[in-house]
Amino acid sequence: MTCSRRSFLTAAALALSAAAGRPAAAEAEKPVLKFKDGKFRILQFTDLHTAYNDEEEVGKSAKTVQRVGEMLAKEKPDFAVLTGDLVTKEVDLLSGGLAAAWENITRPFDEAGVPFAIAFGNHDHERQATMPEQLAMIDRAKMNLTYSADPTHPGAGTCWLPVLGADGNEAARLWCFDSQSYPTIPDMGTYAWISYEQIEWYRAESAKAEASVGHPIPGLAFFHIPLPEIWKVHNAEAATGTIGEPPCPPDLNSGLFTAMIERGDILGVFFGHDHDDDYAALYKGIALVYGRKTGFGSYGDMGLERGGRIIELTEGKPGFDTYISVPQGEELSWSHWK
Ligand SMILES: [Fe+2]
Repeated sequence: MTCSRRSFLTAAALALSAAAGRPAAAEAEKPVLKFKDGKFRILQFTDLHTAYNDEEEVGKSAKTVQRVGEMLAKEKPDFAVLTGDLVTKEVDLLSGGLAAAWENITRPFDEAGVPFAIAFGNHDHERQATMPEQLAMIDRAKMNLTYSADPTHPGAGTCWLPVLGADGNEAARLWCFDSQSYPTIPDMGTYAWISYEQIEWYRAESAKAEASVGHPIPGLAFFHIPLPEIWKVHNAEAATGTIGEPPCPPDLNSGLFTAMIERGDILGVFFGHDHDDDYAALYKGIALVYGRKTGFGSYGDMGLERGGRIIELTEGKPGFDTYISVPQGEELSWSHWK
């Protein structure tokens, strides 16, 4: 964030920023997230898999962007989150290249006036641009709230966003993590793990928030690659929804779930990555939840209608209601209340 932009902070955002040490997302030219009539509705999109390397992919990408717009019009959420694998192949056939590919994804949110954040997926890391460069492309959208809280973190876009309550104080917190891509150390499995730096940052920010208000602030976390704990609930007894393929978390467990348990503030963790899974389950008091694949590109063999997941928070009540939303209706309602 630049100094000149900081000068546009609203009074409420300034107070919150001062209390929590949070930088960019509360800037006045950016929307502020707030409960409305005691509710806050989030629409999760995942695995858009837009690509512009052949004509078929170009066609699927157009359909995907259209579906995002349809879902925003149907649900009119207060906020949307995209949990990765968004621009997943090369963009040779798109005039304007990678920036235009990101603009195609962000345009429906600007048109609908819905603030959004992005958590990058492993395929987003394969583009011919760094993650900070791609985040800068995304930040051209006026509705974008994604920022990098600490530029030394791997990838980009690991951050938190406050949701204000009726009294103007932070009533809930949304956490986004870049779950990165592939291990740089040989023979450590297919997928990378969330780094110790990111986990240490989460622990410190969470503790600061609790110290400032006297209790943990209820939070939701969003990222692409599921946590290794997903294996504990990958069965019909635990899960509500589609179990269509084995999960692909990292082989190694860097401890984010344990940190969340110790901090006691996270109600649920929301992923993408495994296109044929869309279930919700509870593990040791934290919900582990897949989104519904949104994009028409890439695999998806279960015949699942492309859509998104609604997550509805209620101010003052720790928990949430959730369901899968598709153009034709709603599926798989599930709730987690503490
Ligand atoms: Fe994917």
